[in-house]
Amino acid sequence: MATKLSILLCFFFAFTLTFARNTPSTATADKPTSNVTRKNTHVCDPSRFSDLGLDMKDFAFCDPSLPYEIRVKDLVDRMTLNEKVDQIGDTATGVPRIGLPKYEWWSEALHGVSNVGQWNSVASFFDDVVPGATSFPTPITTTASFNQSLWKKIGQAVSTEARAMHNLGHAGLTFWSPNINVVRDPRWGRALETPGEDPYVVGEYAVNYVRGLQDVEGTENTQDLNSRPLKVAACCKHYAAYDVDNWLGVDRTHFDARVTEQDMKETFLKPFEMCVKDGDVTSVMCSYNKVNGVPTCADPKLLKDIVRGEWNLHGYIVSDCDSIEVMIDDHKWLNDNPEDAVAQALKAGLDLDCGNYYTKYANSSVTMGKVKEAEIDKALKNLYTVLMRLGFFDGSPKFENLGKDDVCSNEHIELATEAAREGIVLLKNFNSTLPLKSNEINTLAVIGPHANATSAMIGNYAGVPCQFTSPIDGFSKYGEVIYEVGCGETICKNESLIYPAVKAAKKADATILVVGLDLSIEAESLDRVDLLLPGFQTQLINQVASESKGPVILVIMSAGGVDIGFARDNPNIQAIIWAGYPGQEGGRAIADVVFGKYNPGGRLPLTWHENGYAEMLPMTSMPLRPVDSLGYPGRTYKFFNGSTVYTFGYGLTYTNFTYNLVSSTKSLHVKLNKFQHCRDLNYIEGSYKPPCPAILIDDLKCDDHTIKVEVEVQNVGNMDGSDVVMVYWTAPSGISEAPIKQLVAFKRIFVAAGGSKKVGFELNACKSLGIVDFRGYNLLPSGGGKMVVGDDLVSIPVQILFER
Ligand SMILES: *[C@@H]1O[C@H](CO)[C@@H](O)[C@H](O)[C@H]1NC(C)=O
Ligand SMILES: *[C@@H]1O[C@H](CO)[C@@H](O)[C@H](O)[C@H]1NC(C)=O
Ligand SMILES: *[C@@H]1O[C@H](CO)[C@@H](O)[C@H](O)[C@H]1NC(C)=O
Ligand SMILES: *[C@@H]1O[C@H](CO)[C@@H](O)[C@H](O)[C@H]1NC(C)=O
Ligand SMILES: *[C@@H]1O[C@H](CO)[C@@H](O)[C@H](O)[C@H]1NC(C)=O
Ligand SMILES: *[C@@H]1O[C@H](CO)[C@@H](O)[C@H](O)[C@H]1NC(C)=O
Ligand SMILES: *[C@@H]1O[C@H](CO)[C@@H](O)[C@H](O)[C@H]1NC(C)=O
Ligand SMILES: *[C@@H]1O[C@H](CO)[C@@H](O)[C@H](O)[C@H]1NC(C)=O
Repeated sequence: MATKLSILLCFFFAFTLTFARNTPSTATADKPTSNVTRKNTHVCDPSRFSDLGLDMKDFAFCDPSLPYEIRVKDLVDRMTLNEKVDQIGDTATGVPRIGLPKYEWWSEALHGVSNVGQWNSVASFFDDVVPGATSFPTPITTTASFNQSLWKKIGQAVSTEARAMHNLGHAGLTFWSPNINVVRDPRWGRALETPGEDPYVVGEYAVNYVRGLQDVEGTENTQDLNSRPLKVAACCKHYAAYDVDNWLGVDRTHFDARVTEQDMKETFLKPFEMCVKDGDVTSVMCSYNKVNGVPTCADPKLLKDIVRGEWNLHGYIVSDCDSIEVMIDDHKWLNDNPEDAVAQALKAGLDLDCGNYYTKYANSSVTMGKVKEAEIDKALKNLYTVLMRLGFFDGSPKFENLGKDDVCSNEHIELATEAAREGIVLLKNFNSTLPLKSNEINTLAVIGPHANATSAMIGNYAGVPCQFTSPIDGFSKYGEVIYEVGCGETICKNESLIYPAVKAAKKADATILVVGLDLSIEAESLDRVDLLLPGFQTQLINQVASESKGPVILVIMSAGGVDIGFARDNPNIQAIIWAGYPGQEGGRAIADVVFGKYNPGGRLPLTWHENGYAEMLPMTSMPLRPVDSLGYPGRTYKFFNGSTVYTFGYGLTYTNFTYNLVSSTKSLHVKLNKFQHCRDLNYIEGSYKPPCPAILIDDLKCDDHTIKVEVEVQNVGNMDGSDVVMVYWTAPSGISEAPIKQLVAFKRIFVAAGGSKKVGFELNACKSLGIVDFRGYNLLPSGGGKMVVGDDLVSIPVQILFER
């Protein structure tokens, strides 16, 4: 999101917004908005209609006894072309003549209700009535917990705050979150917004967060998904193959992602498919970039065929803001004029334009004969069906009582703290230096550009948090803090502040170095060019570590991985913690982990590459697999076989877990019928090729084919703790270009010291054992594969056998 116009228009919009909020307007059907504490009323409130001099009974779209489909059709059929066109931009003007109020579609809730874009036309905002909302850790940190129920619970808390703010006239009902693009390249500036590099983890996060936001308890299994009630509407973005922001002058609005069908299906589309099919999300946002020459928002294959057709979206497709303009001005797509571009986007299946090209040009596009008015009708039906499901027309009795007290409640602030604790990853703990013992520590040197981090902890797409607990706040509960910043700012341009930091470390009982990145280094529209700590941070760390009196604990705040091999190998640095961007309570969570009030159990959702990796391949090269002819290594743990600083899934705890295999499936027998044909696969030269290499997964009865594994996890240390049990699948050996391994299941469990817990997984062959071949088929290969639990702690050979 955020547009190229944003900075220019910032002040202008800020002005018009204030104006609109403070001035009672007769031009819209809304009641005067001067009193922001007023409760939002729903459209089909009879008193609204009588205030407007209308009789609600005349309007079938307000008849609750009729199905949504009929009501929505009635609503759309009443509008003139011009009225219709005014409703397909993010700021829908409403149609006062028929009692339809305006509606602002744009709100954000990436990790808490956000006011991002307030200068423009965003529905959610803060002021004296609602001064802030709970700012949960950024998604990359929350993902590191590998705890599906936490992801869902955060979604539920965010949607509760959103509904409360909506009741107070401070938020919309449609939120353009989460961001579920796979982090294909470690330099990507938006990694903080995402659930990391693994398409399956990203998809799991999407499904759980979306269900947390959207689902209304007790109605999750409504038969007709077009009438399933919604708490708020979520949106999975940015579709698709979007993960170059601005790298050495290549920016997202000009970038053409050249993607193979194999990578598309296996990596780039996978999380979106899970989000739509399993999460039943109500919106998908198309991205700025082109894919293989076609702007995604004008691609009928991506939108109409796949999202709406194959995946059966119940909801609407929205453009990233000003995407249609980007198509014309930046991509110079087909030398289109605005009417052409608008026609193509409508025909491709784009329902809502975040921007003003639809509202400005759809009218003339229709009258010029470039697109049928019926395409606009379809878009409006998709849009209003979602608003019906949200109770925009009929009210939502279930959420009516939410108000101020439900925003920034203690419960939500505790959940934000818990999420940060669960997401923190322990990377090094030499000689069990951590946890520090508070009775042995009087003074703590807390050093570094993030030692007093506040806004850095909440990253981007944040709102105004309820409060901040910075690292020095957090540590001051455990000892006397001597604070030294060490660097002027995160970028750390010179060494002038290192000496005072060293002095502090010399006298304290322990030293905590809090360093890393922030939005000045990795952000939307800002990719990294290397994987190092910025400026003189490395010198700061090394000099402090060499002079420190007590143990040295290095805390990294970042989204993307940093090459801290120097610190990992430095015996003067006893422990390393990655905190991501841990949200408003980050400092409390970090201190709780360092002093053992919480035993860390998070795992890295990204591979931490050595800096040299960034020099081996350009960010613009999309293939996941190595490109041998160009010397490019593979991408992500699934295809990169070289050395790393820390691997995907890495993370230590203060205790030790051992795994014992309880039981497992040894083989999977698939009885082929005469309609299931053998498919060929490429094999590495000299490897064994079975007579029937593979079959199409679409031809399988999925429920009939599962493999099981159960392990017993024992906590053999002396501290309670949680462990993420990860199950990887490795396809039968010899198949060329198969992933090295792929995560197919995971579960975070708590095990008391000295105790044990059994964890079982049931893997469905269709979902977990397939590989996508170069033709784009999803295949189940035969032969000997391998289930691996943990880092090779338990390895189970599984034979896949086809029988006629
Ligand atoms: C705003 O509305 C509330 C509730 O209806 C009322 O109590 C309050 O006095 C109003 N405030 C102003 C400034 O009109
Ligand atoms: C996972 O998250 C849920 C919800 O917040 C929490 O109750 C549970 O304790 C977490 N599990 C572990 C093992 O940390
Ligand atoms: C839409 O087009 C009609 C006919 O060309 C014109 O009269 C009308 O003013 C246009 N409306 C807008 C909002 O541009
Ligand atoms: C490890 O810790 C123990 C106990 O605190 C200490 O006695 C020992 O010297 C440490 N070992 C090293 C190599 O630092
Ligand atoms: C920490 O940061 C906050 C917010 O920027 C500031 O108000 C406070 O003075 C800082 N604390 C110290 C000790 O510098
Ligand atoms: C060094 O950095 C500090 C903090 O950013 C700044 O105030 C100072 O002017 C810099 N000194 C030099 C010599 O550039
Ligand atoms: C790692 O991948 C590269 C690039 O494809 C390949 O040349 C190399 O042989 C692989 N190394 C190992 C140990 O598999
Ligand atoms: C965990 O196991 C390792 C290796 O056996 C051992 O060195 C370490 O002390 C153990 N840590 C704990 C906390 O039990």
